[in-house]
Amino acid sequence: MKHLINIEDLTVEEINKIYFRANEFEKGIRKSNHINAHCVNMFFENSTRTKLSFEMAQNKLHINKYDFNADTSSLNKGEDLYDTINNLSAIGMNIIVMRHSDNNLIKELSSKTYFQEVLFINAGSGSNSHPTQALLDFYTMKKHFLDLSQKTITIVGDIAHSRVAHSNIALLKKYGMKIRCLAPEYFIGEKIDGVEYFTNLKEAFENADVIMALRIQKERIQEHIDFDDYIKNYQITKENLPYGAYLMHPGPINKDVEIKADVLETQNARTILTQARNGVYVRMAIMDMMLASWGL
Ligand code: CP
Repeated sequence: MKHLINIEDLTVEEINKIYFRANEFEKGIRKSNHINAHCVNMFFENSTRTKLSFEMAQNKLHINKYDFNADTSSLNKGEDLYDTINNLSAIGMNIIVMRHSDNNLIKELSSKTYFQEVLFINAGSGSNSHPTQALLDFYTMKKHFLDLSQKTITIVGDIAHSRVAHSNIALLKKYGMKIRCLAPEYFIGEKIDGVEYFTNLKEAFENADVIMALRIQKERIQEHIDFDDYIKNYQITKENLPYGAYLMHPGPINKDVEIKADVLETQNARTILTQARNGVYVRMAIMDMMLASWGL
C-alpha cells in the first residue's frame, strides 16, 4: 500500500477492494485489530465529519491515535512542517492523516519524509483533492445503484473551489458515470475532459439519477459573488429536485444557500447522513489495508 494523496493514485481494482472491505466492516463480518499501529491526525483546516470519522475508524480498528494541535505544537516555536513530520515519523507514527489549505503540500511532504516509514492520507487539500470523501461518496452510490456505468450525476455549486467535486469527477470517470457540472460561469473553474458543463438548472437536472450539491467555499473566494443571484438560479428546492433523484452533499451544508432548508426534511435528504456514516467504514478499510500491508 502507498500514500493516499489523490484519487488518480488508485486503480479501479484498488477502489473495488476498498469498497468490498468497507462493506465487510459495515456488515460486521470483518474485525481488525491494529494495537501496534500509531496514527496522528493533523488538521490545519476545520473539520467535523472527516476528523471525527477518522477517529471513530481508528478506535474501531484499535489503532493508537494522536491528535496534533498546531497551536500548541513546536510549529509555534519556528519548527517547519518538514521537520515536524520527520520527527513524528522518527517517534514511530505509521500513518499521518492530514488536512491542509495548500493544494500541493501533503503530496510534497509525503515524497520527502526522511524515514519513509510513514504513510500519508490526504483528508482534504486546498481546492484540489479529497480522496476519502470521493471514496465514501462512491461507496454510497454503488451500494444504492450497484452499477454506476449508465447513471448520470449532476454536481451543482461551487465547482471551481471544490476538492470534493474534483476527486469525485476523477473517481466516477473511472466507472463510466455520466458527469454533469452545473454552476454559474464564476464557479465553473477549469473545465475537465469528459464532463458536460451547464449553466441552466432545468437542463442539468433533466433525467439525473444523482444530484450532488456543494457548499459555496467562502473562505477560498476572493471575488465578489452575488449570492441572491446564485440562490435564485441554482439553489436546490423541493420544486426543482427531480422526482426520485438521489440527493447528496458532502457537508457542511449552508442551509438556504445551496439547498433550501425544507429539502433537508424530505426522504431524499436522508442520503446525506448515510454519506457521513459510510465515511467511517471507508476510512476503516483504507487504514486497515495500509497497516495490513506492513504487518501491523
Ligand atoms: N465533507 C467534509 O469534508 O466535511 P468536514 O469538513 O466536516 O470534514
